Amino acid sequence: MGAFMGGLNRCYNIADLRLRAQKALPKPIFDYIDGGADDEVTLRRNTSAFDRYELVPSQLNNIESISLKTKLFGRTLDLPFFLSPTGMSRLFHHDRELAVTRAAAAHGTLYSLSTVGTTSLEDIAAANPGPKMFQIYILKDRGLTKELVERCKAANYDALCLTVDTPVAGNRERDLRNGMTMPPRFGLKSLVDFGLHPRWVLNALLKPGFDLANISHRVNALEGKNMSVIEYINSQFDRTLNWGDVEWLAKEWGGPFVVKGLQSAEDARRARDHGASAIMISNHGGRQLDGAPAPIDSLRDMRDAVGNDLELIVDGGIRRGSHVVKAMALGASACSIGKAYLYGLAAGGEAGVSQALDILKSETQRTLALMGCNDVTRLHGGFIRQR
Ligand code: LAC
Repeated sequence: MGAFMGGLNRCYNIADLRLRAQKALPKPIFDYIDGGADDEVTLRRNTSAFDRYELVPSQLNNIESISLKTKLFGRTLDLPFFLSPTGMSRLFHHDRELAVTRAAAAHGTLYSLSTVGTTSLEDIAAANPGPKMFQIYILKDRGLTKELVERCKAANYDALCLTVDTPVAGNRERDLRNGMTMPPRFGLKSLVDFGLHPRWVLNALLKPGFDLANISHRVNALEGKNMSVIEYINSQFDRTLNWGDVEWLAKEWGGPFVVKGLQSAEDARRARDHGASAIMISNHGGRQLDGAPAPIDSLRDMRDAVGNDLELIVDGGIRRGSHVVKAMALGASACSIGKAYLYGLAAGGEAGVSQALDILKSETQRTLALMGCNDVTRLHGGFIRQR
């Protein structure tokens, strides 16, 4: 274990954590985190798009103390980035979402729990007194949506987030090729791969099992079966979703309400007009529509369209503190990270997630110092230009 922790300390950036995750996980599980749809053009571009922007420093401004505090959903976060909702954490580490939510709380930032998470929203609330958001997928069982809203109110969640970019599953060819299922199938085909990851296999077998803890009492699609995430989405998600549902859910919830998965100025206006208070500009980490623009490239148009009416969150491709700084300079209210912390979770549970957050925090602080800016909320368009 000592050597393993030592290994985490030698992860100097998110790319190092990714390599550790790759070593720790069987291939189908790693590829489920790491992969995208079709040719993965959008997946790659989410990150590479940041390279088209240059940071322009303003020197000699006394940067002795640097503030990363950011307001979002009526709360103050200690960091300008938070943790996006991601499903199935039990597959990546036996401490699942509890490891992630504890690391988020320790860093004073917001944790988001996914509808297809493997820890109940009540258990998350008990473990994390800090800011929390619940992400909703509207399934064919509409009664479930109402139930989740009531439970989130009872457990004092700060915000509700509706994901709208998943009417059908994206074509994730790595998952198809690997025969990835939840729970994982232990078969002859995967024997060698699982044999190479004995620690993961032992924890998969000996620690509490895989359960879609928020919804399995109503949706029994997985009962006694192994099913691919793609099949699950295509059989359970409600494809009739429309703006009327957004308006209905915003009213039902009555608090900070986030629409996740929008990418155009027109949809930003529609979200505002149907009761949203925030948007996660997102293409689902490149896992849904391949060819969709990188969130960072959609931000300016969307900000111009809605002014300060909505909080706009850049979700996708963030692997460096400088990416956070670029998004904030271009008008983001905050950023969110998915893969970046899941690599940490797979690499070392709570300590790994903490390491991911520490890396991005110190990179963001250092970038601000080098830019001559002592407060992340004071970044503006003068600090950035397009190459
Ligand atoms: C995914 C869904 C479950 O991206 O959010 O795998």
